[in-house]
Amino acid sequence: MIHQSWIGGRVDEIILDEETIRRRVIQMGQEITRDYAGKDLVLIGVLTGAAVFLADLIRSIDLPLELDFVAVSSYGSATRSSGEVRLIKDLGHPIQGKHVLVAEDIIDTGLTLKYLLDVFQARQPASVSCCVLLDKPSRRLIQVPVAYRGFVIDDRFVVGYGLDAAGRYRNLPYVGVLRPDALS
Ligand code: IMP
Ligand code: MG
Repeated sequence: MIHQSWIGGRVDEIILDEETIRRRVIQMGQEITRDYAGKDLVLIGVLTGAAVFLADLIRSIDLPLELDFVAVSSYGSATRSSGEVRLIKDLGHPIQGKHVLVAEDIIDTGLTLKYLLDVFQARQPASVSCCVLLDKPSRRLIQVPVAYRGFVIDDRFVVGYGLDAAGRYRNLPYVGVLRPDALS
């Protein structure tokens, strides 16, 4: 394990350590491998938060998949989204007739994934499903079917393994809660 004194020193509590995440992501990759065998699979990462999770996940999937990315912006404060979602970077390739799996770092209110599922569904893929590393069900405003979820967590603002606070802390190798003074 890398000793990260700058960012590590700003973490109050580790929620999910590296080994726990690694093991779960491998399991998810195995489930996806089983479920999508023989299908034309496109994994779509939601930038930027899903990049770390997706990088590990795709290496646990033993299928000839394609990888694409979208970026969305949701207006709001650093730790709360307003619910207004906008596509700011679209896919590089068409998804018509393909099996789409959207990968997100976390599902919170559900508004981001709901918006993306509707956008992709309109393009007539063979199927669309969601895969999230983290789920905060207590904050859900809209129901979204999640086919693969890594971990269910309490309503706390977490960072690391791709998740940020105001753009920072994505490079923490684990998921943790920041010290209150580290957010300002
Ligand atoms: P939703 O649209 O409310 O489901 O929010 C999803 C997005 O909110 C995620 O992609 C994250 O960018 C952000 N988010 C929600 N909770 C957290 C958190 O605890 N830490 C970091 N980002 C979060
Ligand atoms: Mg995000």
